Amino acid sequence: MTTLVTGIAELTTCDPTHPDAEDEWGTLHDAALVLGDGEQVLWVGHSGTRPPDADRFLDLGGRAVVPAFVDSHTHLVFAGDRSAEFAARMSGTPYDGGGIATTVAATRGASDDALRALLHARVAEMRSQGTGVIEVKSGYGLDLPTETRLLRLAREVTDEVTFLGAHVVPPEYRSRRTDYLDLVTGPMMAAAAAYARWVDVFCEPHSPHAFGADEARTILEAGRAAGLGLRVHGNQLGPGPGVALAVELGAASVDHCTHLTAADVDALAGSGTVATLLPGVEFATRSRYPDARALLDAGVTIALATDCNPGTCYTSSMPFVIALAVRELHLTPGEALWAATRGAARSLHRDDIGQIAVGARGGLTVLDAPSQLHLSYRAGVPLSHRLTVGL
Ligand code: NIG
Ligand code: FE
Repeated sequence: MTTLVTGIAELTTCDPTHPDAEDEWGTLHDAALVLGDGEQVLWVGHSGTRPPDADRFLDLGGRAVVPAFVDSHTHLVFAGDRSAEFAARMSGTPYDGGGIATTVAATRGASDDALRALLHARVAEMRSQGTGVIEVKSGYGLDLPTETRLLRLAREVTDEVTFLGAHVVPPEYRSRRTDYLDLVTGPMMAAAAAYARWVDVFCEPHSPHAFGADEARTILEAGRAAGLGLRVHGNQLGPGPGVALAVELGAASVDHCTHLTAADVDALAGSGTVATLLPGVEFATRSRYPDARALLDAGVTIALATDCNPGTCYTSSMPFVIALAVRELHLTPGEALWAATRGAARSLHRDDIGQIAVGARGGLTVLDAPSQLHLSYRAGVPLSHRLTVGL
């Protein structure tokens, strides 16, 4: 079954190698495309050169189309509510990761059915705002049965599942951290390998609950030995070893990057590690924003993601993150859209998503607007929708 899509005023392909690309973002005006089964792109070009036949026809009436957003950093499987913690932060209480224990208690006490319903509702919320592929982390179980449950549930909604048993040291292990490290690197890692593609660690010496450089290294090396790719939460609350460790170990991504030294930027620039920026976190924790321009000027690949979680940023909206990136990180709208699609895809080592090119199958997002500029120009307006025709 093929669908010919016309009436595309502006198509941002994020594929600058397209022969008709007008700029570095792979933009085409007055474009058309053909979709096959499973959202696969079969043809992309100017409407005047479109193939004449298809099984179905769809006229978008002059709207803009972009690749479906890739949300490469989320913590979607959890129960409970921490809105009071957010309110306290807005009155000046700093974030230190201590509230994670509240979510762990609520999540351990929730049934599979309750967690599944919450997860599916959050995924639906994301899809309705134009997000395609979503990475989902565990990390609110922090015991063997609950971490395994969270990973199994995450795998029901995505292949991009990340084991985050090393989110924080749970309260019952506070006086015996090494026992918790043994649990994470031993039985939990063995169970996680059946469901997860990635391992992550909250490497943050500025939080008493998170992990230092040596602990993080131990966890990441155990993950690699179990066949998992590496991701790191690093340099969120202050300068720290997360970025250097991620680069040294060849991690796919180091996420947050809020507090970077010049040496961190240099290390990232010479590496294949993507710097994933999560400006919704700075917004919702009233913190300073990362220096995205320094990263881009140094040639670092950046990604944008929501970090959707109950503590530091409970937004499911990639358009909101794009608007923040333009306003607060000083990205151009094109740079922000690229980071939220192609950059995020690179952080997942995927080139079949995050762009609109022949063979890609990451999905399309339609904007009720004539250009992608409206994503940040009309911040907060629900303009983006996943295109579902042709699936
Ligand atoms: O990415 N920083 C660590 N983990 C999450 C927050 C988790 C929470 O507070 O519940 C983050 O910001
Ligand atoms: Fe996170």
